[in-house]
Amino acid sequence: MFLDFLKTITMRMYDLILKKRNGNELTKEEINYFVENYTNGEIPDYQVSALLMAIFFQKMNGRETADLTMAMVNSGDILDLSEIEGIKVDKHSTGGVGDTTTLVLGPMVAALGVPVAKMSGRGLGHTGGTIDKLESFKGFSVEMPRDKFIGNVNNIKIAVGGQTGELAPADKKLYALRDVTATVDNVSLIASSIMSKKIAAGADCIVLDVKVGEGAFMKTPEAAQELAAEMVSIGTNVGRKTVAIISDMDQPLGLAIGNALEVEEAIDTLKGNGPKDLFELCLTLGSYMVTLAGAAKNVEEAREKLQETITSGAAINKLKEFVKAQGGDTACIDDTALLPKAKYVVPVMADTDGVIEKIHAESIGLIAMELGAGRATKESIIDLAVGIVLNKKRGEKVSKGDVIAYIHSNDESNIEKAKQDILSNYVISPNYVDNIPLIHHIVD
Ligand code: URA
Ligand code: CA
Repeated sequence: MFLDFLKTITMRMYDLILKKRNGNELTKEEINYFVENYTNGEIPDYQVSALLMAIFFQKMNGRETADLTMAMVNSGDILDLSEIEGIKVDKHSTGGVGDTTTLVLGPMVAALGVPVAKMSGRGLGHTGGTIDKLESFKGFSVEMPRDKFIGNVNNIKIAVGGQTGELAPADKKLYALRDVTATVDNVSLIASSIMSKKIAAGADCIVLDVKVGEGAFMKTPEAAQELAAEMVSIGTNVGRKTVAIISDMDQPLGLAIGNALEVEEAIDTLKGNGPKDLFELCLTLGSYMVTLAGAAKNVEEAREKLQETITSGAAINKLKEFVKAQGGDTACIDDTALLPKAKYVVPVMADTDGVIEKIHAESIGLIAMELGAGRATKESIIDLAVGIVLNKKRGEKVSKGDVIAYIHSNDESNIEKAKQDILSNYVISPNYVDNIPLIHHIVD
């Protein structure tokens, strides 16, 4: 009996693989069938691997991609945030190096009365996730009962919680399989993966930061545009207002890469002294968040209001309120010297004259990880204090001997290698002229 049952399942999955392999469209029922039965363990990895590879080569159309997204949403819990007053806007970045935008944007947007209800994860790879960064505040915790989470958002407009429940478990399983079968970088698969998690997390509106460049999934503006359009179309189709900003990840964003270092950078930015690119990206993303939430007539007005949260001190005060509400020590917000600090801070000097043409973002992230700022495996323990602070960025002129970056380390023995690695990931040329924009395009 059981074997017969298995056989029917195997046969049907075989048909789906064949259909997609031959370039045909899968129906909604077929997509639901394979997502459901893969999640509950009834379809084996090898068949889904074959289907993923067929999808990779034959692609999926917009309808199939939307159906795949919703099948993954329905594979697990869907958060109900209806007790939160106001329009909830979520922001998502497709992943970058030294991306400190959430820490800056959260308080800025909340200071304008727009609810920020964020579920965050820990980082794997390059650098820590938002939760790791926030743990730079002594005592800060994301563990709280649901009532407190909702209460904090209603009272002070911002809360960051740890992932509760199981959001889009199908995506988790499929992503792990894609990772080992060379099927990650397909537009439909990336778009449905990201959007399924955002939709399950309960936001009314979604602002996407689609990174483009060497340090991103999408290496060219055209590819990023295609991914952005696909995600905006999925969001719109399921009734979530969605906007995508395509931004540069051909070099790290801002200057700091590492957990406490990025917290310090966020605090500086909220006080009006942050790196220009980080602040500009925050203003752009934030102005769409605030507009979608209905707290400004248009993006120009939203931008002015956001700027005002910095000059008036409302944003930095909001950060204090938020950190305090989740048990964190706020003294380091007034005095960043109180944040976790590394024992050694070592300058890296340019070995030639010229203009900086490239800073290989992904490699810089990996060097920071090797210093201890990120996790090589899920079990690794991260060192909040360590990382890299860039001193020169793309387009800047340098002379031999100028400091291009600082290494923050707690282990004297890894400094020399980090120095050599950083040097080999800075490309300095005689007459480079930088014309790569920070914001490539906006899809709405
Ligand atoms: N991030 C995700 O969550 N999924 C992808 O497929 C790629 C990036
Ligand atoms: Ca940064």
